[in-house]
Order: sequence, then C-alpha cells, then structure tokens
Amino acid sequence: CGIVGYIGTQDAKEILLKGLEKLEYRGYDSAGIAVRNGEDVRVYKEKGRIAELRKVVDSSFETSTGIGHTRWATHGVPNHDNSHPHQSESKRFTLVHNGVIENYEQLKREFLTGVTFTSDTDTEIIVQLVEYFSKQGLDTEKAFVEVLKLLHGSYALGLLDTENPDVIYVAKNKSPLLVGLGEGFNVIASDAMAMLQVTDTYVELVDGEIVLVEKEKVTIKNLDGKEIKRKPYKAEIDASDIEKGTYAHYMLKEIHEQPGVMRKIIQEYQDEKGELKIDKDIVKAVRKADRIYIVACGTSYNAGLVGKEYLEKWAGVPTEVHVASEFVYNMPLLSKKPLFIFISQSGETADSRAVLVAIKELGHTALTITNVPGSTLSREADHTLILHAGPEIAVASTKAYTAQIAVLAILAQVVAKDAGIKVDVDLLPELAKVTAAITAVIDDAHTIEGFATEFLETTRNAFFIGRTMDYYVGVEGSLKLKEISYIQAEGFAGGELKHGTIALIEDGTPVIALATQESVNLSIRGNVKEVVARGAKPLIVAMEGLEQDGDTYVIPQVHEMLAPLVSVVVTQLLAYYAALHRGCDVDKPRNLAKSVTVE
Ligand code: G6P
Repeated sequence: CGIVGYIGTQDAKEILLKGLEKLEYRGYDSAGIAVRNGEDVRVYKEKGRIAELRKVVDSSFETSTGIGHTRWATHGVPNHDNSHPHQSESKRFTLVHNGVIENYEQLKREFLTGVTFTSDTDTEIIVQLVEYFSKQGLDTEKAFVEVLKLLHGSYALGLLDTENPDVIYVAKNKSPLLVGLGEGFNVIASDAMAMLQVTDTYVELVDGEIVLVEKEKVTIKNLDGKEIKRKPYKAEIDASDIEKGTYAHYMLKEIHEQPGVMRKIIQEYQDEKGELKIDKDIVKAVRKADRIYIVACGTSYNAGLVGKEYLEKWAGVPTEVHVASEFVYNMPLLSKKPLFIFISQSGETADSRAVLVAIKELGHTALTITNVPGSTLSREADHTLILHAGPEIAVASTKAYTAQIAVLAILAQVVAKDAGIKVDVDLLPELAKVTAAITAVIDDAHTIEGFATEFLETTRNAFFIGRTMDYYVGVEGSLKLKEISYIQAEGFAGGELKHGTIALIEDGTPVIALATQESVNLSIRGNVKEVVARGAKPLIVAMEGLEQDGDTYVIPQVHEMLAPLVSVVVTQLLAYYAALHRGCDVDKPRNLAKSVTVE
C-alpha cells in the first residue's frame, strides 16, 4: 500500500490523485482520498485502480488539504468498505494507513467493544482508538501518541481531525514515509516519487516519531513530546525517469533501458584507472566472511541464484540463497562468520527487512544491494551497493534483475582480485559485449513477439528448462510469464523434469529450453528430446557457438557465466508479448504489488 497527503493552497484532489498514480506500484486493489474544506471532510473511495477513483471524485469540491491511499489488500477483501481512508464513528477523524497492525483484535476487544465498525480492516481500529482517547479528554496529538504506544506492527499513518483542520498528524513504524517541503504547502508520501510533481525536498521520518504537518511548517517530535530537528535532502530522481515516454508500457521501456543500465553500472563501478571498484569496507566484509547468505524475494531471489555462482566460482566464498519469508521463521545453522546480502529492488520489502532485523539482533553484518538509495533496507544495513537502474515502475521486474546480476558479478570480481584469486573472465570487456548482445536481442523484439504468439498466445501452461545457470534463468523467465500473462509456468532443472513434472507434458505443451552453457549443452538437448517425445512443442534458445539445427532462436555469444544477462531478455520479451496478445494489463498484473511492505 502507499499513502500521500497534501496541505497547502492548491487543489488537493488533483495532487493526491496524481501522487497515488505514482504509488500504484505499491498496490492497486482499491484507492481513496479524504479531502476537506473547513470542517467538511469528503471521503471518496473505489475498488480497483486510481482511474476508477477519479471517476467518483467530485471535481467541483474545493479543497486544499487531504490524504490518500492505494491499497494492496491484507486484512479484508478489496471492496469499497475496506478501502481507505477510514473514519471514526463520529466521523471526526479520518485516517490512511500503510502496514499491518498485529494486535488489532486484542485492541478492539480491550477498548472498542461499544463501537460500530464499518470495515474488516486493522486500520479502522487505529482511527476508532484515536476517537476513544480524545473522548477521554486528550487533545488530538496526545490521543494519537497514546494510540501509537499501543500499536504492534507496521504503519505509515496520515490522520485528519475536523476540529484541528490545519494539521495532518503523521507517524510511522517500519513502513516508509517521507515529508516533502514546499513554499506554502507541505506533503507526505510513502515514496518521494509520488510528490516530485510538487517538490524535490524531503525530510526522512524515523520510527517512534510523530509529525505535525501544517501548511507553513512541519514539527517532528518523539513520543515524549520532545521536538526533533532534521535536515531535509534533495530527492535525486529525474521526473522524466518516471514517465512512460513513447513506450506502450513501462515494462517495455524498462526492458529497452537494460543496455543503458549496463553502461551506467560499468561507469559507476569503475575507477579513474578503468578498473572495477567497490567500496573497500564492503570488500573487507566479504573477505572476512566464511559464508555468504543471500536473502531476497521474487525476482531479486532469482538474481541471487545467479550471483551465488559468481561469489563461489570467482570470489571463492561459499554462498547460500534463501527466500526471506522462510528464512525468518526457519533460520539455518549459521556459519561462524556469516555475511548477509539482501537483494531488493525497492529496498522496502517487509519479508527481507524482517530477516535484516533478526540478523542485526544476532550481531551479524549486512550488505544491501538495492535500486533505491535511502530505502529502509539500505539505511538499516551496514553497507549498500546501488543498482543505478533508474526507477523501475512496471510490477514485473526486468532491468533491476539484470542490474542485480551485474553488480553481484562486479562484487565477486573485485573481491577475487583483492584476495589474489585469478579469474579467467575479464569482466569489463565482457560486460560491454553483454551490453551489445542485449541490444541485439531487443532490436529483434518483433521476432520474439512472433514466438510469443506462436507458442504462448493460447496455451494454458508452459515449462522452462535449463541446466546450471540456464536453470536459474528459466525460473526467472517462468516467474515473468506467470506474473503478467497468467499462464501457469514453471522453471525446472532440465534433469529433474523427468522425476515427476514430465507427467504434465501433453501434445503441444510449450517447453522453453535454454542452452547457453557449454558443459551441459548435450544433456539439455537430451532433456528436450524427452519432452518432444511426449508431444511438447519446444522453443529452444541457444547461444551462438552452441546452436544446433532446429533451434528457435540464437543469442549472440558472450561469456557463458554472463549468458543469463542476455538470455533472460528473451524470456522478458516473450512474457511481455504473451501478456500483450492475451489482453492482460502488462504493467499492473492482478493481485500483485511491486513493493510489498507487509510480511
Ligand atoms: C514483489 C514484486 C516482485 C519482486 C518482489 C521483491 O513481490 O511483485 O516483482 O521481485 O516483491 O521485491 P524487491 O523490491 O525486494 O526486489
């Protein structure tokens, strides 16, 4: 979920709606705004996208203060009643909330037995509690603080009070939230991106603070009422980076940006002498480790699988890759000197953050690899490496995945060099080759579109097979395909398919086979024969030099350790065009959110 707020002199409705559109990546099950004119507070909310919300907002209502929310449903189905903003019983208080309150049922039983609720959400408890304490005689600020002290869980909150109409009351715990500063107005937002339209100056908020946001001033206090001063910073996002430009979808734009991202990474991680460089402390941290634990979710996890190969084969450090949401409940036996690497495009994923908090409590060191400087995972880890991929808006991650792999490769090489390990891959020129190869694949998009229509337009399911590095790319390719086209897809180790899953192969089932690794080229070909013998329709993507008669598509030759960076682009384009031709909403697939800030 994401929240915004505005207090100033301009039309708040439009600023809030535009802000929410920029936050749709955080969820789009429903959306709502509350805007006020004097004591008149109007709440508009609607199931579905911001575009739906726009239709129900009364454009003639004059207002220059309001709060807004876009939801990824957790507690309660995504319907009108469960949409934010939520109001207290008397409608005096109105609230938006991003996060999850764990003890809401207990609080409801303890304090709110006589109250009539209009939703099933944990959020409504918060706003009813504020009213409860204000009825006990506390002023709004004190009532709000009292409630904050009772809440267990994560939250970013914006609260309106009809009796104190010139303030938005704000607080956060674990969920991200920023205050944006302007001339004659101030704003709040889960992400600076949402409010770049009005300001590029932001103040970070810290857990355990309450903030009073007024038109002309912002007051930050701790829960004991002591005022806190904090310097603002300039958000370094170019507003044009978050527009689609001439592309039909953000996903297509981001796929096309990958050669540029590779060049940017090569440039950012190079010193004056043209050698790869990584912060010395990070190199030291890796060298000190007897084992690396990569922790991530979704596409970032898949990038971690590839990264593991570099860290083990080049840097010589044993590396495990873990799904964050499992790791936190079922920690493996850790080595004596572990180093944790968190890979996260957004740097906000709650599942990953939960592991970070747990391992910090154990006293371990953490490195975050993220696309968002200043994100929660970046701030809370000991070290950060930035992806320099530019804002990624489409829910399905593309350029962040390739950027993550490139940065992990650079990290492994710099560590190897520092440790005096000789690696037979000259990474800089090899990455330049990769950049050219990605460009060639993108230039060939119409060919790949043809495969998408031929193999995937009407199919119910599809399989990806590969061995070693190709297996990892197959897992990512299948995730991309299911996310946006809803085709049931699975990535399998070529040799493992026959141990069960091959039962699903029927006449015409598409099997996408990746063949970019020399040592397994013959064995993956054998696996293709096995599925073809059972009726599968094979789409074989091979690398130049390893191709055979009958291959569907051949990618330019690059070093095989780096082949994932190129072959994955084929799978991204396949997924994109399959979704497009099946009439799916490419950038905003159902049920998903780009940044999941709940566990
Ligand atoms: C969500 C997104 C995925 C993403 C995952 C991890 O589930 O839908 O596309 O891979 O989160 O996100 P992160 O920002 O931590 O890389």
